[in-house]
Amino acid sequence: MQNLDELSSEILSAVEAADTTDALEAVRIDALGKKGRISLMMRELGGMDPEERKTAGQTLNTVKDTIAAAIETRQAALSRIALDARLAAEAVDVSLPSRPETEARLHPLSRTIEEVVAIFAEMGFTVAEGPDIESDYYNFTALNIPEEHPARQEHDTFYLPPDEEGRRKVLRTHTSPVQIRTMEVTEPPVRIIVPGRTYRSDHDATHSPMFHQCEGLVIGDGIHMGHLKGCLIDFCRAFFGVDDLPVRFRPSYFPFTEPSAEVDIGCTRDGGGLKIGAGDDWLEILGSGMVNPRVLANCGYDPEKYQGFAFGMGIERIAMLKYGIPDLRTFYDSDLRWMRHYGFLPFDAPSIHAGLVGGTV
Ligand code: DAH
Repeated sequence: MQNLDELSSEILSAVEAADTTDALEAVRIDALGKKGRISLMMRELGGMDPEERKTAGQTLNTVKDTIAAAIETRQAALSRIALDARLAAEAVDVSLPSRPETEARLHPLSRTIEEVVAIFAEMGFTVAEGPDIESDYYNFTALNIPEEHPARQEHDTFYLPPDEEGRRKVLRTHTSPVQIRTMEVTEPPVRIIVPGRTYRSDHDATHSPMFHQCEGLVIGDGIHMGHLKGCLIDFCRAFFGVDDLPVRFRPSYFPFTEPSAEVDIGCTRDGGGLKIGAGDDWLEILGSGMVNPRVLANCGYDPEKYQGFAFGMGIERIAMLKYGIPDLRTFYDSDLRWMRHYGFLPFDAPSIHAGLVGGTV
């Protein structure tokens, strides 16, 4: 027992000297573990007479508590040191420019979709999606395009091989089937846009077998042609960044709308160049109309109670017009030089507030 003071200070120095959690644990086992030096001394108390045991026991307990407390303090210090080292090693310099800044570019089609979404989101629309492989019912029949209708031929449809029951699925020829899918599972009011891929068997400078459209659908109580016009005029002006852009509604025909209108915007073609804005010429950019009551009924809506309007546009077409891209096929060439010329900085997200007329770099 005489050497208890010595032993205690030896252990306490070992605690201080331990520079890893493992080393500290070894010191703890050596002192306080089952066969540790202090624990063994505790066991010796049993052989002492009661008076001696009492004082020795108290002293030993104090030493034991002091060592335990020292280990705990050292453990906390080691954890802090480890954390500091980790923070230093994992430090990120948030002021560094991001790497894509110099290399990657966002494809103009992705950018155009983001712009369209930003404008309609501001008007309270949400984005809806549907499958690229579609049934004949959703792509045609429910949209009031019956079996023998000439519109079916005009769509240059890609058909998949028939299933066991002889039904042939199609690659959707437009984004309009998502109107039906949405109305089937939603109670009015509805306000959606549907950007997505579409497919037609057609290939030249202005047609690609895979292309993109954006559909729009608004259903509610008391929706009329004035809403359609206001919404699409606002969209055209915001998208092209021309506040006084003339917008013209020209009577047309689509089986799923009645009445139907094609939407033209003003332009000039002086000296071979095309300029969007007030001028002496027009460019068609959208199809639209009031949703045909038959389509509403096909989705379980009461056409006496609800009305709505719909529209559809080609993303490639509006991207070509806005960004002066002359050949549609170049969108899909994956040519890096083209991307560097027509692409966008990936973090330069479009918004009504930050600007929609993205500068190419
Ligand atoms: N689905 C049409 C097409 O592919 C575009 C379209 C026109 C969609 C009028 C509409 C609409 O919703 O009302 O050519």
